[in-house]
Amino acid sequence: MIIAIDGPAASGKGTLARRLAGHYGLPHLDTGLLYRAVGRAMLDRGLPLDDAAAAAGVAAQLDLDGLDPEALRTGPVGAAASVVAAHPAVRQALIALQRAFAAQPGGAVLDGRDIGTVIAPEAPAKLFVTASAEERARRRFRELVGRGELADTPEGLAGVLADIRQRDARDSGRAAAPLKVADDAVTIDTTALGIEEAFAAALTAVEAHRP
Ligand code: C5P
Repeated sequence: MIIAIDGPAASGKGTLARRLAGHYGLPHLDTGLLYRAVGRAMLDRGLPLDDAAAAAGVAAQLDLDGLDPEALRTGPVGAAASVVAAHPAVRQALIALQRAFAAQPGGAVLDGRDIGTVIAPEAPAKLFVTASAEERARRRFRELVGRGELADTPEGLAGVLADIRQRDARDSGRAAAPLKVADDAVTIDTTALGIEEAFAAALTAVEAHRP
């Protein structure tokens, strides 16, 4: 069974994806890490993020085993990821790898922005996980405080909220595979839900669509 999970930054989709993968014993791919790895490589090499050909070249060389989640989950890398993710050539270069992951025998859980719409439109279980921008900013802010990364966000919570809004606009407004709710997705709004309540809602939705 393929479980496709999409949603905006800090909506809780990653946590739900990990929990569902654990529950069903399925492999999990956080596809945001792929775009983050491309953004990070461009920054490290001093290449402009709008150089679509260079970014697509980096994407074509990516290897799932070489990803370092800890190093990639920083604010600046997330912002760079959302710029390179708007290049159609970058998305194209990452499709085969994601589809191969989804097609593993027994299934897989993938989370991102276009899993239910582009990568695995055939997935029987699709979730769209969202929350208000304010609540997502609070969560991201707490996470940054916990990681001692506040130096990157001098404007505090207001700065994180502005970043989240900018990323939402870029991810939803781009022409190539924009963030949107698949017609057959179940939407889970986690604004007022704790992790256990959100997981229970996700499990109910997946069970209802299980082949
Ligand atoms: O989910 P995460 O915040 O790690 O994603 C980083 C960026 O990568 C997103 O803002 C988005 O622009 C891009 N992304 C995407 N498609 C995906 C996953 C992530 O465009 N499937």
